[in-house]
Amino acid sequence: MTAHHLVPAPWSVQDGCGVLELDGATTLGADRELNTARRWLSRALGAATGWDLMPDPAASATISLRLDPELDAEAYRLDVDTAVVIQAGGPAGAFYAAQTLLQLMGPAALRQAPAAAAGRSADPWPVPRTSIQDRPRFGYRGAMLDVARHFMPKDNLLRFIEVMAMHKLNVLHLHLTDDQGWRIQINRYPKLTETGAWRRESSRGSWRAGVFDSLPHGGFYTQADLREVVAFAAERHITVIPEVDVPGHSQAAIAAYPELGAGAGPVEVWTRWGISGTVLETSDTSLEFYRNVLDEVVEIFPSPWISLGGDEVPLTQWQASDRAKTKAAELGLPDVAGLHSWFVRQLAMHLERHGRATSVWDEIGDGGLPDGALVASWRGYEGGIEALKNGYDVVMCPEHKLYLDHRQADGDAEPVPVGFVTTLQAVYDFEPLPENVDPAFPGRLLGAQANIWTEHLDSPRRVHYAAYPRLSAVAEVFWSRPEHRDYDGFLARLTGAHLMRLDAMGVEYRPVSGPNPWQQRPGVEGWKRDYDAEQRTAAG
Ligand code: ACM
Repeated sequence: MTAHHLVPAPWSVQDGCGVLELDGATTLGADRELNTARRWLSRALGAATGWDLMPDPAASATISLRLDPELDAEAYRLDVDTAVVIQAGGPAGAFYAAQTLLQLMGPAALRQAPAAAAGRSADPWPVPRTSIQDRPRFGYRGAMLDVARHFMPKDNLLRFIEVMAMHKLNVLHLHLTDDQGWRIQINRYPKLTETGAWRRESSRGSWRAGVFDSLPHGGFYTQADLREVVAFAAERHITVIPEVDVPGHSQAAIAAYPELGAGAGPVEVWTRWGISGTVLETSDTSLEFYRNVLDEVVEIFPSPWISLGGDEVPLTQWQASDRAKTKAAELGLPDVAGLHSWFVRQLAMHLERHGRATSVWDEIGDGGLPDGALVASWRGYEGGIEALKNGYDVVMCPEHKLYLDHRQADGDAEPVPVGFVTTLQAVYDFEPLPENVDPAFPGRLLGAQANIWTEHLDSPRRVHYAAYPRLSAVAEVFWSRPEHRDYDGFLARLTGAHLMRLDAMGVEYRPVSGPNPWQQRPGVEGWKRDYDAEQRTAAG
């Protein structure tokens, strides 16, 4: 199905004949419940065309948005004939219909001001006559962005959200804290950002090369910034899940408040990539500190889930600590390894008191998941399948399939080639629902998520390179009918129109043929991994 080069492909399209021509007299009407979608469409289309798009509550509006309670909340019908008629199950469906309409109007409809040559009018804008019925395959269509390793300035983050919304993605998991930086202002603990939001320098390329760049790096979002981000995302039907990673990946917090650390002596915000051995002391002091942090986090983020991370916790410091051993014994744990999930569960209970569920990376399941947790299965599918068997909600984001910081092709042309080869076709072929998931499992597979770690993505330009067009492919996997999956058809829509849409939005994606010269990083060492070989080794 290549109709109109829409990405993600809608569930069904029936084409009419010819085009409807829209011009500066276009009016816009909406049922009251769909006013946010009307406002967004009026702004987006008004910006690109220069039209005023006068509101017209009457049925005679050129573009009308109508509520149809028979449809699911995210579903819509879009009919273009003598007028544009959108029927939506709810505000989200109306918003997705508006996105589809902009895609139908051509790449220029995604610009932020009219781009017709001087002295020429862009009117009229032809819209192909068509009848589209559409709804998503999964309710959770996510992307995780790591703003801890490299800070994403707020204006770029808003743009990132806008481009996600164009793809009908609806969850942004924001990785806000890590060993290398703390990016969220916490009023009670100002040193988290005074000290924790910047580092002296960073590894250049893989940390294994031992090369550093001698450049200070930092930045953080104020609470007002994050409220703006959340509201901006909400207008686009995107939920922002904040992640405060514990009890590992916490060196920036420990640099700011050394009493939180399990090791001896102060540390600095980590300048190296990799997994720091510096972890939290699982003390009452740490618990109280993080409860206070979370009290501020929940005030900023209305998301039903708050992520506590919980990934990659080295045990070395706890194993060397009498305090940790005593604590484990007091809690009746067989050894200090149990402190990992115990600590996360304590904070999860605090979130529960705030009416929020906890999202965690899947390895926390090795020691017991918090009640009602959402499990992000990154170490493959297995952690997710186990969680489904045990009645948990799950989001699939396996590293060997959906890590968009991983290299997009084999060879040395890829900038800082790290991880597994993860081509455009490979992500397009990703299937969120593994065959061995029994529908009778009590847990729910909510959807899937592409993860964008930024050790080697030191600017929004590098993030766009890693994300697109793979995130366009991922969006189609999450949204469209699996029976219609067709890589050649996707590629035709991508090269026929969608890349031009990304161009119009200013997204510096990776060209299908390979990186532009300025997108390469000659001489910066990566760390290539080979999934097949690792699997063979693991298998024996
Ligand atoms: C992860 O990749 N450490 C979740």
